[in-house]
Parts: sequence; C-alpha cells; structure tokens
Amino acid sequence: MNETEKRRDYELGYHITPPKGLLNDPNGLVHYNGNYHVFFQWNQTDTTHQSKSWGHVTTEDFVHWKAHKPALEPTDWYDKDGCYSGSAVVFEEKLYLFYTGNVRGENGERNSYQCLAISEDGIHFEKKGPVLEHPIKGYTAHVRDPKVWQGKNGNWWMVLGAQQENLTGDALVYQSTNLVDWTLSGSLVDEPITLGYMWECPDILKFTEKDVFTFSPQGLEAEEEKYRNIFQSGYFTGRFLENGKFVKDDQPFKEMDNGFDFYAPQSFIDDTGRTIMYGWVGVMEPEVEAAVPTRKQGWLHALTVPRELYYENEKLIQYPLAETTNLRETNPTISKSTKNEAIPLSSVQQDILIEWSSAATDFVITLRNEIDIHYQAKTKKLTVTRTNWKTLAREERTTFLTRELMELRLLVESSLIELFLNKGEEVFTLRYFVNETDHLFNFEYLDKPVEKTLTFYGLRSFEITEE
Ligand code: FRU
Repeated sequence: MNETEKRRDYELGYHITPPKGLLNDPNGLVHYNGNYHVFFQWNQTDTTHQSKSWGHVTTEDFVHWKAHKPALEPTDWYDKDGCYSGSAVVFEEKLYLFYTGNVRGENGERNSYQCLAISEDGIHFEKKGPVLEHPIKGYTAHVRDPKVWQGKNGNWWMVLGAQQENLTGDALVYQSTNLVDWTLSGSLVDEPITLGYMWECPDILKFTEKDVFTFSPQGLEAEEEKYRNIFQSGYFTGRFLENGKFVKDDQPFKEMDNGFDFYAPQSFIDDTGRTIMYGWVGVMEPEVEAAVPTRKQGWLHALTVPRELYYENEKLIQYPLAETTNLRETNPTISKSTKNEAIPLSSVQQDILIEWSSAATDFVITLRNEIDIHYQAKTKKLTVTRTNWKTLAREERTTFLTRELMELRLLVESSLIELFLNKGEEVFTLRYFVNETDHLFNFEYLDKPVEKTLTFYGLRSFEITEE
C-alpha cells in the first residue's frame, strides 16, 4: 500500500484537518457577512510546532467549505517566529484579527507582541503590527492568545493568557474604545488561584444565567481521574463584571472534555445568537505526537466538530452544532431491542445514537475492536479505553455522570471519535489508530437489559473547494 492509499485509512471526512503540515488551535472564529470563518494554527511545511501561520477556511452551512490562502504568515519582525493564537471581531463592517507575534532572540529568549490585522473583505488581511507592549511588571514574556469582545457599554475587552514572575498562570485584561489603543485593567480574577505555570487560550462565554471563563492551564498534576493529559482545558463559572473582573463561583476547575486529546478551545457567538466552540484534537506528549501514524503522510491533527454551548442545570453543555446532521445519509439503520448487538458499520464515518427507554444499566460498547466504552450504572461511571499508539499500552479516561445515562451520541471517523453523553453533559474526544478494515460496533449488556434504540447514520464528508 502506498502512502496516498494509507492516508485514506486515517483520513477525516468531516473534521477540519491541514492538507499538509501541522494544525493546532482554532483561531479567529467569527460569523462575518453570512460566512463562518475558521482560522487555525498551521505549520504549512512540516509536522513540527514551528513557523505558525493562520490557516483559513469558510462556510455558510458547515457542509460546503472554501479553503483560502493563509490569512497571516510569520513574515514581519514582530511575528517572525509564529503568528500565534488569537481571535476576531467585526467593527464598522471590517474584520479585526488579534494575534500574538512570537519572536525569539539569538539566545532563544522570547518576546510576545499582541498584534492587529484588518480586512475589508474577510479574505485579505493587512497587518497593522503590535498594539500592546510586553512584558509588564510582575509578568514573564509568556503572554499570548488575545480574545477580544465588546462589553455592554460598547467598549472592547481583551483577555490574555499570562505567566507571573513567580511562574504561576494568570489571565490579564485590557480595555479599549477603538480596538487600537489598549490600557491594562489588571488580572481577570482577583482571588488567588494556583493552577499551573501558564494559562493559554483564555475565553469568556456569556450566558443569561452565568458567565463561564474557559482557559487551558499548563502544569496541573494528575489527581485520580482528573488532569490525566499533558495539558488540560477547563472552566470556572461566575460573572464577568464591566470593571474587567471575573468573580468566580465557589466551584472547582472543571475540565471541558474527558478524552485524551482535547485542548485550546475557542468560542464565538454567531448572527443567530448561538455560542459555538471549536477545540483542537490534539494535545499530546511530544513522543506520542511524534508517533502519530499520519505524520508519515505529511499531516497532523484536527479540530473538533463545531459544538453549540449552553449553560443548563449548573452545567456547561456541549453538543454537535445542529448543521452536523446535514451530513447524515438518509435511511439510518435502526435497531430497538434488549439484545446484545454486533453490527457491521456500512462505512466508518458514522453518527451513532443510543437512547434508553429508562436509565441505562451496565454495558460495554466495543468499536472497531479497539475502543471500549464501559458504563457502570451504580456509580454512573463511564470509562473510555484506547490503545496508545506509541507504547501500545491500553489507557483509559473516566468521568462520573451527575444524572443517570439516558442518551449517548458517538461521532465516528476513521481515526477520531467524539462522544457526547446525556445530550452533551459530558464529552470525550480522542484519536485512535487501527490498521484493520473491520468496522464492527458491539453492544453488550453487563446487567439486566433495558430497552435501547440504536440509530446509525452514515456521515458524508465535507465538500471543500480551493480558492
Ligand atoms: C496552545 C498554544 C497557544 C499558542 C499556540 C502556538 O496550543 O501553545 O498558547 O498561541 O498554541 O501555536
């Protein structure tokens, strides 16, 4: 089998991947003149974390996509070692991109510049250079990933991931009336929070009942089932006040995704008022990343499907955006029974739904003879197991549901799955790599069977045209 044929084994049909090179964080998410814009961190030339540009794709319907030339490339003194992550806002009909210019000195010392680029058509961007000076007193040069939004009084806010000189993570807030001149407001959260050595990709999500501060802290120690990946993404709930402070609830930091590879999510609000998020799949130990089989085919990593976010019953809910169902083939396979099932999938791209008629009892699902999804009703414990492609060891991630399990939705691709429990109360995202062509889906009851309806929809790939 040659490499092109092999690419098909792991190719992703309905997740954003780089045509070649390495993709990481979603950037600049925005709905502008009827088009959804997704930018992403992209090393165009190889699969290392070097020389990041902003890749750029757009869509009106999340089915038909256009791939554009990179929006930003690291060609200026203030971003010569990477146009790092950032966000987009629309102002006076123009699109404003904010990003971090990463610059390394001769001895490897770091400089970070928060930069602006403006576009009048959403396709061509004019760089305006840095708008902020760094570092500031008490902070190192690790300050990046500007997320900008408009406050209630019309002023603009920017939150940045930062590191204090005592090597603890923080988020810094700036404000502006014109998006060009920015003044420091201070730390986002006043009360001391000790959570890792650096906070990446901060974001503020606004819901009627609550605001949610999401960020990606580096350097958390694993604690039982929690924080098992190299880096995590999670959130605090509370209220963002129009004095630039986030007053957090007395709740622990909660991870957004229980899987192996999710990181650096970013949200935006579209013209219909929906809060939509993409995350990166994903973050992994360098040696595991180096062993991802797609590297041999010249490409690495993907974004999640777009997820709509809600705040309900004191929980952040994430569910595949409604448009994802437009990729479903008609004529699903449906099976309603209390029997164990062994179903050969008609194709590897699937949207699989399981609805129980009353609370699920213990079961195990085995997908493609590789991924196990195990549920224990007594403790509401759900565990996902995969094979680590570097060490070949079986490894697992676990969560405890707060309600009985009634619904499970599984988006399957040849080398990636996203699992949503109880309509998005808990989520698991992960890559996996199998060589076999076996597409079997097994469901086995491990306790008294409760009637379940299994629905399998084949999922079509995106249609992508090059601009
Ligand atoms: C998160 C991150 C960001 C940075 C970008 C560089 O994955 O490290 O903090 O801006 O990736 O690609």
